[in-house]
Amino acid sequence: MIDLHSPSINKDAIGYLRKCVKSGWVSTGGNLINQFEKKIENITGSKYAIACNSGTSALHLSLKLAGVKSKDEVIAPTLTFVASINAILYNSCSPIFMDSDNFYNIDVNKTIEFLKQNTIKKKNFSYNKKTKKRISAILVTHVWGNAANLNKLLKECKKRKINIIEDASESLGTRYKKNKKHTGTLGLLGALSFNANKIITTGSGGMILTNNSKLAKKARYLTTQAKDDPIYFVHNNVGYNYRMSNISAALGLSQLKQLNYFLKRKELIRDFYVSKISKIKNLELAKTPEYSKNNNWLNILKINKKFKYSRNQLINKMIQNNISVRPVWKLNHLQKPFKKFQHYKIKNAIKLVKSSLCLPSSPSLTQKELKKIFLKLSA
Ligand SMILES: Cc1ncc(COP(=O)(O)O)c(C=O)c1O
Repeated sequence: MIDLHSPSINKDAIGYLRKCVKSGWVSTGGNLINQFEKKIENITGSKYAIACNSGTSALHLSLKLAGVKSKDEVIAPTLTFVASINAILYNSCSPIFMDSDNFYNIDVNKTIEFLKQNTIKKKNFSYNKKTKKRISAILVTHVWGNAANLNKLLKECKKRKINIIEDASESLGTRYKKNKKHTGTLGLLGALSFNANKIITTGSGGMILTNNSKLAKKARYLTTQAKDDPIYFVHNNVGYNYRMSNISAALGLSQLKQLNYFLKRKELIRDFYVSKISKIKNLELAKTPEYSKNNNWLNILKINKKFKYSRNQLINKMIQNNISVRPVWKLNHLQKPFKKFQHYKIKNAIKLVKSSLCLPSSPSLTQKELKKIFLKLSA
């Protein structure tokens, strides 16, 4: 089977893991975690990086650290992985679902329109006219590694005391061209994921990014059980067992050595898809933003209605040929636990889901496999 995205783990990783196991530091202590954090700080330019045991836990805490309070509302895209929305619910807040732009990211213009037309300001905070609840944050996902265009939104949110939290789970390596800033470092906090299907993996793992020293300190405290006294075990707050393990960090350090190689491979894979798919009538590769240098984490196929197969027929055909493809996520505002929450003029996201398909994008894809994918798409 040609996987959608499989990890590429080389021999170097075994050396790192062996050393870690031999040291006995296999749990949430050990200096490999600090080393891994420092490397992520260097790559992303974030002043602080705090390692977590998943992208989901990093998101949960990022929202908490941003000061969202129980019964607040958080604006979020309907088109994102469910973990982004669950993180809002873990904080006892309600999501307000937004539409997508053509890069599958939150529609910034509609979000600003919503803020202008559907909220009122009180003491500089924004309240939803309909529910009377405070809107304290906007959670933005950089979907498939495509950088969301945040400039206008950042300005609008500053006026309204709304914090932007970035779900950069899929966008390690994606930067804005103009200022070279890394995705996940524009808002108050950002979260990365190192799940096995991401551009680098730690098995399971995540990272909180922030430039705010107070929040970084609090993040370290909350991820390690909020221990106020390590000898007498005094805990003045409810903490979490969210710190990354040293074993995960060992794998992460070896993976980071390959990051530039993965990014190059992904560029080549994208170039292959762009040039070949343009030859197939009524299929095209989804465009990526011009304003950013993409990590090309996942390539998306756009299927025109006139194509000889429907989206589902194409999925079946590819799977029968041992090529793993999948539709983009079912939209969150249509998911059972979230149906009751407000959503705003969602149109484009529905179109995108109907017409899109995720294509295999592992850095290990061979030329032979790529050709097979192309042949099966065109046959
Ligand atoms: C957009 C997005 N958000 C959040 C997550 C959650 O990350 P994790 O699986 O590390 O908890 C993922 C990936 O799994 C993701 O793709």
